[in-house]
Amino acid sequence: MPYIITEACIGVKDRACVDVCPVDCIYEGEDQLFIHPDECIDCGACEPECPVSAIYTEEDVPENLRPFIAKNKDIFDSETPPGRPNK
Ligand code: F3S
Ligand code: F3S
Repeated sequence: MPYIITEACIGVKDRACVDVCPVDCIYEGEDQLFIHPDECIDCGACEPECPVSAIYTEEDVPENLRPFIAKNKDIFDSETPPGRPNK
């Protein structure tokens, strides 16, 4: 059950989450950051760090934000996968 970055990150990209992730599995896309679902170790460190509460465990993602679960996965298989965050 990986953690998921949802809509509130769009346009904000605070990146506080990036600093605390012990396995560097948070990547930067054009409009938001994404957590690689196969690399996330579910440590939970990132979730409280986000100032706009964009991060949820997969099971806790609110109903209206459920599409972000697939988005966080599919984006890594796209032609323009997210890269290392710009700090
Ligand atoms: Fe986005 Fe929050 Fe991280 S705004 S970059 S999920 S700290
Ligand atoms: Fe990284 Fe842990 Fe979050 S592995 S993405 S800080 S749950």
